[in-house]
Amino acid sequence: VEELPLSRVGLGAWAFGGVGWGPQDDRDSIAAIHRAVELGVNWIDTAAVYGNGHAERIIGAALADLSPSERPLVCTKAGVLVDTTSGHTYRDLTPQSLRGECEASLTRLGLERIDLYQLHWPVNDSGIVEQAWETLGELQREGKIRQAGVGNFDVSLLDRCAARRSIDAVQVPLSLLSRDAARAVLPWTTARGTRALVYSPLESGLLAGGFTPQRLRSLPESDWRPRRPQFQQPQFNRTMELVRRLAPLAADLGASLTQLAIAWTLAWPGVSGVIVGARSAEQVDCWAGAFGLTLDDSVLREIESALLETGAGKGPTRPQ
Ligand SMILES: NC(=O)c1ccc[n+]([C@@H]2O[C@H](COP(=O)([O-])OP(=O)(O)OC[C@H]3O[C@@H](n4cnc5c(N)ncnc54)[C@H](OP(=O)(O)O)[C@@H]3O)[C@@H](O)[C@H]2O)c1
Repeated sequence: VEELPLSRVGLGAWAFGGVGWGPQDDRDSIAAIHRAVELGVNWIDTAAVYGNGHAERIIGAALADLSPSERPLVCTKAGVLVDTTSGHTYRDLTPQSLRGECEASLTRLGLERIDLYQLHWPVNDSGIVEQAWETLGELQREGKIRQAGVGNFDVSLLDRCAARRSIDAVQVPLSLLSRDAARAVLPWTTARGTRALVYSPLESGLLAGGFTPQRLRSLPESDWRPRRPQFQQPQFNRTMELVRRLAPLAADLGASLTQLAIAWTLAWPGVSGVIVGARSAEQVDCWAGAFGLTLDDSVLREIESALLETGAGKGPTRPQ
């Protein structure tokens, strides 16, 4: 398998799709990509389903403005599709669908090869998942993709796929609030030396510092976030309390809360990269400093106390 030299932080393109996050200006998305690249982010994570192809088209447009040496690596995903009649998503991991998706992604991205191709979500039938995993192996041998990974798989499914062919990367959520990956999936990837890419380190914006009850109330109907449990009570108030507790800690480190939240995910053993979303170049500027921020044990203990005392989120509380 070819090496894939990913920076510790990657840019997440979900909001660039323009669906589910309220209005998003394509020019801001392209500016965010260019700024991230300038600041040393060398990969973008996206998916065919983000905006039903729109996020990939925007990435394709942003890449076309860059010289080949500046171009970031592109990681995309397949297996979740949009029913254009209802607008709802559904999963399809059949070989024929995956192959069609791969071709469509290559066209939208303007690439000959995808750097990392991932099964976005599993389906209930593990036989189908294993067959899908074989299909990614075929795409790799055919030169359509460089590496293959999976997202949101539990360890039993990871075991079943790894028994067929090694997994190049595993994608799981990890943030100060969503810490379950630290229980089983991260120990699994660490034990096998498999690359773990963690996502939504800001809990889709909740941990960015500027999220207030007013902001929550003013989100447009087209923003999916208020429907997520973490954005509802009592979790929301616990998170606001956590953010109040962490703000002075971040300030002492000369960091923003956003940077602290990102650095905390990178402090977990076995995490090789974190995928952070941004909707503008300014947001990228604000979190880019996280690359160089390391949290020592005393800071990790203070964060642990804040998590335990506020009751915010769930899962293990201290990277060790
Ligand atoms: N494999 C999967 O199933 C899966 C699932 C989810 C995500 N992902 C990947 O992970 C990426 C990141 O996850 P995510 O987008 O859910 O969330 P995230 O990285 O936790 O949060 C990103 C959001 O936080 C806000 N934000 C970012 N920087 C900020 C700043 N400096 N100041 C204030 N607000 C800021 C922005 O939203 P607002 O400005 O609107 O608040 C932004 O869209 C996705 O784009 C996607 O590539 C993968």
